Amino acid sequence: MNAKRHLPTLAATVILTGVLLTTVALATVALAASHEGGKELYTAKCASCHGADGTKALMSKPVKGLKAEAFTKMMQGYKAKTYGGTKKATMEKVAEPLSDADIKALAGHVGTL
Ligand code: HEC
Repeated sequence: MNAKRHLPTLAATVILTGVLLTTVALATVALAASHEGGKELYTAKCASCHGADGTKALMSKPVKGLKAEAFTKMMQGYKAKTYGGTKKATMEKVAEPLSDADIKALAGHVGTL
């Protein structure tokens, strides 16, 4: 019978579809999670100085409105002590313990402010 010969192909297709859907679902969860983690991190570690909505200008401008790329460069710069103004020592202490994943999550949150 033809149907029997097609069964393995059908099973493979079903499994492959399942794997693909799971991958998409996991990626979506990971994205949402990193974003939410960013909000919690920001509230706990940044809001006291920069304001919950990021509008307090502590350097030239507020963190609100910073694009992820610019924000990431600034944070990596504070970590590496290669960026900052007259009060950079404050931010160097803040940035030092942050991981790349933390900075990515924070960039995601700052982008929504
Ligand atoms: C104790 C107060 C304080 C805390 C907490 C703090 N900051 Fe800052 N932040 C400052 C000060 C002061 C400056 C200006 C530093 C300088 O002169 O370079 C600054 C500057 C910055 C800048 C650079 C802005 C620009 O336009 O160049 C970014 C980005 C930033 N902070 C992000 C953060 C993030 C993200 C957090 C939380 C992880 C955080 N800050 C926590 C005080 C703080």
